[in-house]
Amino acid sequence: MRHVLTTQRLVLRPVTDQDHEALLDHWTQPGVRRFLFDGAVLSPEEITEVISGSARNFAAAGYGLWLVRERRPEPPSESGGSGLVGTAGLRPLEDLGLEILYSLAPGAWGKGYATEAAGAVLEYALGPLGLPEVLAEVDEGNVASAAVVRRLGMVPFGTVPGVLGPMIRYRRTR
Ligand SMILES: CC(C)(COP(=O)(O)OP(=O)(O)OC[C@H]1O[C@@H](n2cnc3c(N)ncnc32)[C@H](O)[C@@H]1OP(=O)(O)O)[C@@H](O)C(=O)NCCC(=O)NCCS
Repeated sequence: MRHVLTTQRLVLRPVTDQDHEALLDHWTQPGVRRFLFDGAVLSPEEITEVISGSARNFAAAGYGLWLVRERRPEPPSESGGSGLVGTAGLRPLEDLGLEILYSLAPGAWGKGYATEAAGAVLEYALGPLGLPEVLAEVDEGNVASAAVVRRLGMVPFGTVPGVLGPMIRYRRTR
């Protein structure tokens, strides 16, 4: 199964050890970690574990964490240096199935990149990976993320308590 995904504007490839610094920089930005990790700052060791866990899951089950970049990056001065647009991935949600997650560097917000990247992951999950459904869990206050899952055709099916308030669960079936 091919694990590199491409869209009109983006390329998604599984994270590797070489992405450690970029991932740490990206995920510790306040606007990125607020809803993704309930504001927590991930340690370098936790990032290492995320990367190795992703590699294990890709090898065993075909899913994990992708790094998202532009197919034609802008010059470094405009793209902010690393060319990293963000991340997208699949991970277990309790024993319910796999949930989709995504994050964009603030400079990449408002261009449709999250919907484009997450859409590619969703199509991969429901297509080649063969999942019957994909889940998402979004903080009620994360309006931008709720808009992403709705644009992807995911429908709400439940609410659970979260650290920052209620979290809405969404699903899309094949
Ligand atoms: C959630 C998050 C990824 C959403 O980012 P986003 O930029 O709002 O979402 P998209 O990339 O899909 O962009 C959609 C916006 O781009 C606009 N847009 C501009 N050009 C576009 C284009 N060519 N194609 C599509 N949309 C385009 C859309 O109109 C929309 O704008 P709107 O919000 O004013 O309606 C971002 O806020 C983020 O990274 N947050 C931190 C991490 C996080 O919370 N992750 C989710 C945890 S559940």
